[in-house]
Amino acid sequence: MESPVRVAFYGAGQVSTNASAILRRRPGVEVLGPYGRAERDSAVRSGADVVVIATTSFLAAIADDVRDAVEGGSNVITTAEEAAYPWANDPATADRLDALARERGVTVLGAGLNPGFAFDALVLTVCGVVPEVESLLVERLVDLSGFGETVLHRIGVGHSAESFAEGRRNGTVTGHVGFPQSMNVVAGRLGVAIERIDRELEPLFAGEELAAASLTVAPGDTAGFRQRYAAISGGRVWFEALFTGHVAPGTIGVEPRDAITVRGPYGGAHVEATPGMNPQVGSASIVANSVRRVVSAPPGWVTVGDLPPAVPV
Ligand SMILES: NC(=O)c1ccc[n+]([C@@H]2O[C@H](COP(=O)([O-])OP(=O)(O)OC[C@H]3O[C@@H](n4cnc5c(N)ncnc54)[C@H](OP(=O)(O)O)[C@@H]3O)[C@@H](O)[C@H]2O)c1
Repeated sequence: MESPVRVAFYGAGQVSTNASAILRRRPGVEVLGPYGRAERDSAVRSGADVVVIATTSFLAAIADDVRDAVEGGSNVITTAEEAAYPWANDPATADRLDALARERGVTVLGAGLNPGFAFDALVLTVCGVVPEVESLLVERLVDLSGFGETVLHRIGVGHSAESFAEGRRNGTVTGHVGFPQSMNVVAGRLGVAIERIDRELEPLFAGEELAAASLTVAPGDTAGFRQRYAAISGGRVWFEALFTGHVAPGTIGVEPRDAITVRGPYGGAHVEATPGMNPQVGSASIVANSVRRVVSAPPGWVTVGDLPPAVPV
């Protein structure tokens, strides 16, 4: 009998809890953890076939975890948004860890719903039905009410106008992270050179008290935000990404939605999902469904643009 695929989880939050539960129900998979901060090495140095790192969004914060897991001979899946295309943040670290992974014969992948699917893998799939891509518009409206408190606070929910503005200035309020990464994944596959990426982030204030699962937003504080990212190529907007996140989208007259427009000859292509993809279920599923594609992928730091689709096997 074939030995099971061993998967160890580092980070004992939502993603790890949900993805490990999915994998525990799956035959041929042995799950270790999820392990919290105090038990880091039980995951990162487990020598498991795959180490899942679901802790923070930032490459700098997970780089040593990736290094130790790779040195221990494990493939790595991480939900850190910046890891979806680490060259966008820190090419030296990306190159160093890519080289280490090649040397050890293992694969590293940044995966999730966004980045990892909604603004990149799915966009590339839709591009398959047009003869030529002129430009891209991807819109996503997300109900944030199920997110954990730490993530909500960092992306910009539950702040006064002043603390949102100050957080944006000093980098502690980030909005949703990962759009430059998705844009680079798509550009890389389509052979497009991005000249620059313009970014906008604006708060959305609650008109009344709003209760999310992990926090309550007072009237006048931020209940969400709007983001616009525009990747410029050839002096024009080539890829526009619009993201609205809100803990109670109905109160601003909108509902969760995903829409991809590929502009090209013969009318291009338009794909829309209403209601939009569920962030918690979607991300946990993509992580769980990436285990086998990462095990069979070529060594090195790869992106979702390099791999076949994630499927539940
Ligand atoms: N790419 C995607 O689509 C996608 C999807 C989902 C999530 N994410 C990202 O993945 C990360 C995890 O998401 P989540 O929803 O599981 O978050 P969560 O529920 O807040 O859980 C995070 C876990 O990681 C731990 N942690 C936080 N910072 C850490 C650090 N610097 N070192 C070690 N452990 C740390 C936390 O421990 P404490 O409780 O002790 O702080 C907690 O156990 C977030 O940054 C999120 O933005 C990305």
